[in-house]
Amino acid sequence: MSKLLLFSGTSNLKLAKKVARELNIKLRKLTISRFPDNETYCRIEEAIEGKHVFIIQSTCNPGNENLMELLIIIDAAKRSKAKRITAIIPYYGYARQDRQVKPGEPISAALVAKLIKCAGADSIITMDLHSKAVEKAIRMRKVHLHALPVIIEYFKKKKLKDTCVVAPDKGALKSAKMQAKMLKADVAYIEKRRVSAHEVVAQQIVGNVQGKNCIIIDDIISTAGTICEAARVLKKAGAKSIYVAATHGVFAGRALQKLSRAPIKEVIVTDTIPQEENKKRLKKLKVLSVAKLFANAIKRLAKH
Ligand code: R5P
Repeated sequence: MSKLLLFSGTSNLKLAKKVARELNIKLRKLTISRFPDNETYCRIEEAIEGKHVFIIQSTCNPGNENLMELLIIIDAAKRSKAKRITAIIPYYGYARQDRQVKPGEPISAALVAKLIKCAGADSIITMDLHSKAVEKAIRMRKVHLHALPVIIEYFKKKKLKDTCVVAPDKGALKSAKMQAKMLKADVAYIEKRRVSAHEVVAQQIVGNVQGKNCIIIDDIISTAGTICEAARVLKKAGAKSIYVAATHGVFAGRALQKLSRAPIKEVIVTDTIPQEENKKRLKKLKVLSVAKLFANAIKRLAKH
């Protein structure tokens, strides 16, 4: 552990401090400021030559700035002769731009991976990437963590009775079945069906949710459109209560307002993205920490 140095960008300092605490080490000194024209300045204030440097930075909103900050820190570490550089990206932004839907579009998720590698990172530790395509696009050593154990643990402690895990779509059914097994719960899924030639879709539930405490677990809540619509359908079908959980609470646009009005008892996310301000605005928001998972991954990687 003596050769391990942990630095943090500015996007998620709270999580970085928690990870450092789990590892029983201190965050190392790094100055990050702005030039008068708003460009990012960074200086590593310690000798890092020959050391394994870990840099924590979620590339959440403002994604472009946080990504650039990460690239600049990696470059600084490379030029200061770090032996190895690991970028810890709890929330990997641009992950949903993982394929060309229309000709002429980029694959931004793959570009981000290339930029991180090109800046000088040797490996990445990240969590719940949006798709297999993003995972494949990261062509360097990677540790892909999952928040599910933390989320499952939370629900186990709640000791809810008559629970049903609901997949927000048929594609998520396989994961929902696994989650249901862990929670000794029933399983159901929401099916979207075309009702006219004009792409109008109706949602119906496959499975019984009547009088059940329903749990939906997704990877990300962005606009909250998916989850609020699912909650509305579940309520209509007689669900007793609805809990939604996701690894990444992006909460874009009017997501928080939508969630506060939706028939949802609790919204549970992790701290891959800072949630202090969101917690003030959404009382039913519960934040679980994934710091321990990252600390353990760092320990394992530092040994090799
Ligand atoms: C879909 O593939 C994802 O798992 C999420 O359900 C989706 O990205 C959530 O987006 P939004 O909150 O904007 O509906």
